[in-house]
This record gives sequence, structure tokens and C-alpha cells, in this order.
Amino acid sequence: MSKDKNSKKEKFAKLIIDNNSYSFPIYSSTEGESVIDITKLHSKTKFFTYDPGFTSTASCESKITYIDGEKGILRYRGYDIEELADKSDFIEVVNLLIYGDLPNKSQLTKYKNLISRHTLLHEQIINFFQGFRRDAHPMAMMVGVMGALSSFYQDTLDIKDAHQRQEATRRIVAKSSTIGAMAYKYSIGQSFVSPKNNLSFSENFLHMCFSNTAEEYKVSPILAKAMDIIFILHADHEQNASTSTVRLAGSSGANPFACIAAGVSSLWGPAHGGANQAALEMLEEIGSSKNIKKYINKAKNKKDNFKLMGFGHRVYKNYDPRAKILKKICKKVLNHVGINNDPILQLAMDLEAIALKDKYFIEKKLYPNVDFYSGIILKAIGFPPEMFTVIFAIARTAGWTAQWTEMIEDPIQKIGRPRQLYTGNLITKYGKKRSRKNTR
Ligand code: ACO
Repeated sequence: MSKDKNSKKEKFAKLIIDNNSYSFPIYSSTEGESVIDITKLHSKTKFFTYDPGFTSTASCESKITYIDGEKGILRYRGYDIEELADKSDFIEVVNLLIYGDLPNKSQLTKYKNLISRHTLLHEQIINFFQGFRRDAHPMAMMVGVMGALSSFYQDTLDIKDAHQRQEATRRIVAKSSTIGAMAYKYSIGQSFVSPKNNLSFSENFLHMCFSNTAEEYKVSPILAKAMDIIFILHADHEQNASTSTVRLAGSSGANPFACIAAGVSSLWGPAHGGANQAALEMLEEIGSSKNIKKYINKAKNKKDNFKLMGFGHRVYKNYDPRAKILKKICKKVLNHVGINNDPILQLAMDLEAIALKDKYFIEKKLYPNVDFYSGIILKAIGFPPEMFTVIFAIARTAGWTAQWTEMIEDPIQKIGRPRQLYTGNLITKYGKKRSRKNTR
């Protein structure tokens, strides 16, 4: 709690250890749960807290995104996600996340120009792609190329300079879509398509992915709008795994491009952003509504590792508001591309209906999350499943850069350094024989 710490010291929490009583300040949030400030816990008591997976830990103070997981609410800078998806566009949302409020018309035009100035990649970076195998996962290319950008922009290396920070954030957002499109083109063996700065962010991304040297892709306004909504819905989600990774990497003062590459790596996992690819693959594996019961039973069986991908969330204990919006636009996109009765969409809706009536899912409050329907839309637009998480990463550069900026500008920011509960060996003399449990 940085700036107005004293005004937030309303209450205290008491902790009693061995008849000794300690008190810790409680800070109220503007909305949502309050926090107990335990920064002095160790110096006062010589104890640490133990919270694997950070289920009860607020790692920072933030003004960017608010989630009410019980009610299924998501807001960026106070604006409801549904309203932003309906009325805004991705670059306006990027501006909102980074600068704190919606830009006026001229601010937005200026910002769009600043972003589109950075869509090109350095020729050396283009050569960098040739080092990847053609069958590399596009996320592997995203991680590598994003990290490699840190060697290119020597003028954005001073993160204490606000101007350089802003320049870095604009470069990251603008170039992420070019890198994502290039990763796709490289994986399908086509030549790269240059960005067109007269197009919107989403139109340009579709153009770079689907135009080729023989044929220009005509960007459909319906698909461009769907793409834009997908980017908006994935733009930020407070302190999730990848955002916390970016903050932790950045807390040491590391180069911003390298920090974002760390975030891309964290996002890749199937428990996080990789779930959109996994969800579609799961639906394809289930294949037909008559197999749903079998897979629901597998998901409930503790001895089986199978999980219903695109279901459940650490924070949402209600319908993910992003999934609600995506479910609505799913039909529109499918109709537009001429798929009137998509069996996969039907299967997804049947699976959702059955799971939501099942005692196991009701008791554990497991609902569809953002990844459940996004894959169906992205597949209809023309993307293969390997690109789904790349698209998520492009969108999330907005949140990562906003959160990174907020962290660097926070006066109480210090290097992130959690502690541990050590349960290993006591001091052992070198050469003393000990029985090993593992066989490595
Ligand atoms: N299918 C079956 N059971 C589930 C599922 C699921 N999808 N999700 C959670 N559960 C069960 C767990 O087994 C656990 O059961 P238990 O209490 O009997 O042990 C209980 O529900 C609580 O789940 P946790 O895994 O402890 O919850 P956590 O907050 O750690 O995990 C997560 C959330 C990772 C999202 C989990 O729900 C999951 O793996 N879902 C599938 C993957 C997925 O869709 N990820 C995308 C998340 S959204 C995003 O990152 C953009």
C-alpha cells in the first residue's frame, strides 16, 4: 500500500503465537477483499506465511483490473468488460489500461498512430526466424523472438525514464501482432506479410496472417470485430500467473522485452492460456454428445488426470463474463463463415449444459472460462489450434505492459523474493552414505 497508506489503516488483525500477541494493519480496497499487511510479520515474529499457489496472497497494490469472482464481474479501470467489448476497440483498451482512463478522440488517434509506427520488425529479427524448425510451436517462436527484441532497442533500456518505458510498451504491443503473424506464416511455410498501417490492429493482424503473395485477404468487418473482441477480452486479468511472472521478472529491473517473454512462457501452459488449444482438442477428442457422460466421469475421477479444459478458474466461482460474451459471438461468426450447424459448437453447448447440472461441478463452482468458446471462434476465423495461445499472448501484452509500468512506477516497488518452508536434509558430511529414494 504505497501512496495513501495512513488513510487506509482502518483496522488491525491480531495474531497470537505462544501467548504473544502481534497486530497487523488491515487495508481496505475500493471494492472487494481487504488485505492484512504482513510485511513486518517476520521481523516481529520470526515466522513466514505459507501459501503455495498464492491462494490467499495479494502480491501488490493495483488500480488496473477488478474481478469479482463470485458475481462474475470483470472491469478494466472501472469499465465493465461487456461495455468495452461492445463500444471500444483494442487499441483504445490498451490506452485505457496503460494510462488509467479512456482517451478522447484526438488522444486516441495520436495513440493509434504511435502504435502503428512500431508494427514493422527489424530485418535482423526477420532473419532470426530462420533458426526455428518449421514444426516449432508458434508459442516457442513468440517466446524466443519477444526475448530477442531486448537486443534491438537500445534506446528503451533505461526503465527509470518514463518516455523510454512508454516507447517500450508501444513497441511490445505493436510488434507482438507482427511476431504472432510471422510465427504462423513460418509454421505453414509461407512468406511473411508486411503490416499495413492503414488497417486497424485486428484487421492488420488478420491481413498479416491470411494474405499471401498470390492473394490479398479481404478482411471481413464481422471477423475483424470478433477478433477485436477476443483481443479486448484477453487484454488483462489482474495478478494471474503470466502477469505475476512479468512483475516478478521486472522487479529485478530486467529489460521489458525480456520480462514480456517470461510472461509469454508462463501463459503457454495448459492450466493458463494454453487451455484454449487444449479445450478445442478435448472437444474434438470427445467427438460426439453421446460421449459426454464418459468424459464428465473421467473429469470427476480423482485417479484420472483428465480435466474438463476451459472449465474452472482460480478466481471465478461463477460464469466467466468473458465466456458469456464469446458464447454470444460464436454463432454470429460461424454463420458468417457458412457453418450453420457446427457439431463442435453443439457439443460444447451440450457439454456445458450437462456439466452445469452435475453435482461435482455445482459443488466446486466450476463454470466455463474464457478458453471454452474462444477456440471455436478462432478455428472458424481460420486459425489452427496452435495459434490460439499466440492470439491470447498478443492481447495480453496490453495488460502485461500496463502492470509492468504500474509496478515500476510504484514507490514501494522492490525485488520480488518469496521465502520457503525448508523440509530438506540437515547438514550432512560430504561422502556420508545416504539412501536415495529416486533412481536418477
Ligand atoms: N475439471 C475437473 N475438475 C476440476 C476442474 C476441471 N476443469 N477444475 C478444477 N477442478 C477440481 C479440482 O480437481 C479440485 O478438486 P478437489 O477440491 O477435489 O481437489 C477443485 O476443482 C478445485 O480446483 P483447483 O485445481 O484446486 O483450482 P485452482 O484454482 O488451483 O485451478 C484451474 C484453477 C487451473 C483453472 C483449474 O480449474 C483447471 O485446471 N481448469 C482446466 C484448465 C483451464 O481451463 N485453464 C484455463 C483457466 S483460465 C485462464 O488461464 C485464462
